[in-house]
Amino acid sequence: MKQQAATVADHTAIAAAATILEEGGLVAFPTETVYGLGADAENPAAVARIYQAKGRPNDHPVIVHVAPGAALDYWVADIPDEARQLVAAFWPGPLTMILKRASHIPDAVSGGQDTVGIRCPSHPVAIALLSAFKGGKGGVAAPSANKFGNVSPTTAQHVRDEFGLDEQDDGATDGEACSGALLSTVLEGGPSQVGIESTIVDLSRLATHGPVLLRPGHISAQQIADVIGAMPAAPDQAAPRASGTLESHYAPRTPVTMLPQAELAAALAQLQARGVKVALIGHALPAQSPSSPSQRLLPAEPAGYAYGLYAALRDMDQTGSDLILVETPPQDAAWLGVNDRLRRSVFGSAGVIASLLKTEM
Ligand code: TXA
Ligand code: MG
Repeated sequence: MKQQAATVADHTAIAAAATILEEGGLVAFPTETVYGLGADAENPAAVARIYQAKGRPNDHPVIVHVAPGAALDYWVADIPDEARQLVAAFWPGPLTMILKRASHIPDAVSGGQDTVGIRCPSHPVAIALLSAFKGGKGGVAAPSANKFGNVSPTTAQHVRDEFGLDEQDDGATDGEACSGALLSTVLEGGPSQVGIESTIVDLSRLATHGPVLLRPGHISAQQIADVIGAMPAAPDQAAPRASGTLESHYAPRTPVTMLPQAELAAALAQLQARGVKVALIGHALPAQSPSSPSQRLLPAEPAGYAYGLYAALRDMDQTGSDLILVETPPQDAAWLGVNDRLRRSVFGSAGVIASLLKTEM
């Protein structure tokens, strides 16, 4: 499962990237969850370039990434005790908090809402970048470094693939025609260890709604409850908009569908008999031909599965298959983050097996 070893960005590359950010440019950088596409959170023109590069609607808020020990009250208007408790327990780490924003946070970051999403990532390259940028006092606004709606990148190569950059190319030399031209540099940090995006908990409406889990992730609702003494609720109608919560997201180009293990073999036989090319992702499926390039077996435990999931979706998307078939993972709480991402990858592909059986021959 481990991708080939990459040379992690050194001090010089990180310092150069911090300068690019300070000058209003974009930098892609590794975090422990997924790679981010960063810009100076206090420079609206720089943040606008993120939206442009991603092809993302500009009313969607972006997360502000801060260095360890950053002054939370610089970014946030009211800091509830719960936020301080979560910072002490989980930062640096894969937890984003939604809080009332300080007045100088640009609309471009908050999506025009009165809140800001904030997190301190634990990846050493991210920490070094955030500590170098504005002497550790700045914030880097960064969504995942993928085109809008696509699968999030968990390696530097995924980012280069996403924006059409060459390995040696730092993106700056390609001219305007290249879609990666807005992106100046991709910092290398090896494969992201968590593999799915941070848990998002909304603490901006505690008095009326209590804590709300906007996006499940590696840090579970139970772990949050253990720290703040209240279980985060599922999102309600009034919850702030979050693009990762749109129904269709994290989707490869190839249609994706899920089937329980008991139904896989029969469906596969039927599809293959009709000449349909199927790529498979499983965690327990009996390998038909274990070495097949269009099959990926992921670990049968949620952390290992999450680590490999996005790379597997990307790799299976490259196989020229008509369909990516995923063996339905276990449904218990520990798998919530994985199932949330898979459900969104599958969205829009309902009925795809039936239609492939009808049309292909
Ligand atoms: O793990 C992560 O969170 C990664 C890495 C790069 O840190 N970032 C990430 O960003 O996943 P993005 O933009 O792909 O997803 C962030 C989510 C979006 O759904 C966005 O709408 C939501 O966070 N968000 C950001 N600020 C918010 C706010 N003020 N209120 C509600 N949702 C917010
Ligand atoms: Mg994203």
